[in-house]
Amino acid sequence: MSFLDRHFLDFQGISAQKISSFFLKASKLDFSTPPPTNAHIVGHLFFEPSTRTQLSFNTATLRCGAQPLLFMPENSSLKKGETFLDTLLTVQSMGVSCLVIRHGYRESLRKDIVPYLKVPVINAGEGISGHPTQALLDGMTILQERGKIEGEKIVFIGDIEHSRVAKSNFELLSLMGAKLGICGPREWLPKNSNFDFHHFENLSQGLKWATVCMALRIQKERHDSDFNLDFNQFQLNKNVLKDFDPKGIILHPGPFNREVEITSDVLNDPRCAIWKQVSNGVKVRTALLQEVLGL
Ligand code: NCD
Repeated sequence: MSFLDRHFLDFQGISAQKISSFFLKASKLDFSTPPPTNAHIVGHLFFEPSTRTQLSFNTATLRCGAQPLLFMPENSSLKKGETFLDTLLTVQSMGVSCLVIRHGYRESLRKDIVPYLKVPVINAGEGISGHPTQALLDGMTILQERGKIEGEKIVFIGDIEHSRVAKSNFELLSLMGAKLGICGPREWLPKNSNFDFHHFENLSQGLKWATVCMALRIQKERHDSDFNLDFNQFQLNKNVLKDFDPKGIILHPGPFNREVEITSDVLNDPRCAIWKQVSNGVKVRTALLQEVLGL
């Protein structure tokens, strides 16, 4: 049973059962021997900054025995006025097998881009609307560390409204039967969302309820205006984590701003699974590329 339709853009049309088998496949990947090489070239088109997503897709491409083709927007013909779509059509014409795309343009991959392309597309982060491979790696980390996703109580903390990571996690985790909690300044709570949230005004209440907590970076680059908020009450630190389940787990998609949304001591807390998230990023992206490339 294949996980994908053709592209991987969001969780539309994907069942919980398919995701569970995908997690099983991704967890079993063994990187101890080099893969057989193949003729696939994967276009990595990151129009927005990235460290872990870009480098883990890069690693995953190599783990598949394929070659990554990298794009540097700051040195590209975007500077001469070439459009987002024309850039993608150009790279497609070079014979790549698939395109991994991160962008913050107004266009939607599903509605405005994919209909014009022949090759499969993987969404590596799209504006504020979604980041589904991040949700896959977060889901797999929860499953490994907590033993299940169904019934887990997952609280998202901070700038939820501008977080594409939170949006994709809401889709995936609700599909898998988790309970969703939100805690953050009123201005940054989700608006017009269809999900059923437990709302916590106070972080320590949210942490008392949760079995998994995820801190989010303040998405300054996506704010219309400067917020002058006192964020300290939503900071994950050693003191507030006294209220959190001793067997719970602490997540953050990264990059984190130390001493802003999370303090350095939390990174040494035995419940912190942030580095595990990064390693799982390579696994889910390798499994995904294997499916897309038919390996
Ligand atoms: C996130 C993103 O780009 O949405 N980073 C990531 O891919 N792990 C989160 C963020 O930038 O805050």
